[in-house]
Amino acid sequence: MADELERPGGEPVEPEAEPHLPSPTIWPFAFAGGVALLLVGLIINWILAAIGAVLLLVFGFLWIREATSEVRRPPAAAPPAAAPVSELAVAEEEEEPERYPRSVFLEMSTLGVGALIGGIVTLPALGFMVAPAFVGQEHDEVDLGPLANFPKDQFVITTFNSKKDEGSVGRRTAFIRNNGLKNDVPSFTIISNRCAHLGCPTQPQGLPGKAKDVKGSSGTVTIIPVASVSGFQCPCHGGAYDDEGNRTAGPPVRALDRYEFLVREGNLVLGKPYSVGKVIGKSADAKIEAYRVADPGQHVDGPEQYFYPPKVWIP
Ligand code: FES
Repeated sequence: MADELERPGGEPVEPEAEPHLPSPTIWPFAFAGGVALLLVGLIINWILAAIGAVLLLVFGFLWIREATSEVRRPPAAAPPAAAPVSELAVAEEEEEPERYPRSVFLEMSTLGVGALIGGIVTLPALGFMVAPAFVGQEHDEVDLGPLANFPKDQFVITTFNSKKDEGSVGRRTAFIRNNGLKNDVPSFTIISNRCAHLGCPTQPQGLPGKAKDVKGSSGTVTIIPVASVSGFQCPCHGGAYDDEGNRTAGPPVRALDRYEFLVREGNLVLGKPYSVGKVIGKSADAKIEAYRVADPGQHVDGPEQYFYPPKVWIP
């Protein structure tokens, strides 16, 4: 028995210490927190994503360093040759030291396989989630023709090509109301017909007049005046909007999208579309909660907005 051994001279021999086990560590949890912060940050905010990436790298490094500490530890110095204690101790010294403990190998293998599976599962989903934010979605300006085609305080249905080279497939529709001047600046309400639920084409609630084709630098623009528009209706699932595009009924999650515009050489020119949370007020006095253009069905305000890219205010 080892605990009964004595050195020559009566000095007792210490029993062999328990084998070293890695101590519990918080690094894996901190690493997982960094990954979670990075993923959430990619959706919500680039600053959060950067913090997550830093945490991920730091705690990943600390975790790996701790997990491999057994491997990197220098071999123990041989005991002095002049201190043979017993036959048992001599036999232990002669054993070949274990260069790569099996427990460390298993731990690293498990981590590697787990990381591989996690990457295979996560990366494609991450790509589909993040890539659209980097895909170019530029819009051509569209010349809709002279301001005289847009009578004051009346909606017109305007159909046009959003890109010059697209045929009838690229036709878009906007509901345009000339609000007159505000502080000597022309004011227009330009509402997209794309429903904010699933994208069906909405219709104005009012009596349509006679269609007129206007040829301009952006191709043919079709203009249909509509009398007394009280709002807009979606035929697909019953979505309804008021005459500022605010949702009033049905499943849409926000107001109808709008278009930026400018007046150039007496013509109304359509700019980029943008999404709208809600509109407060009416016509030229309306205050528009504007966001970067979002897909149908996406929330742009309320708690749900944090599951989508951050808002960009358009003055
Ligand atoms: S697409 Fe308009 S209500 Fe569903």
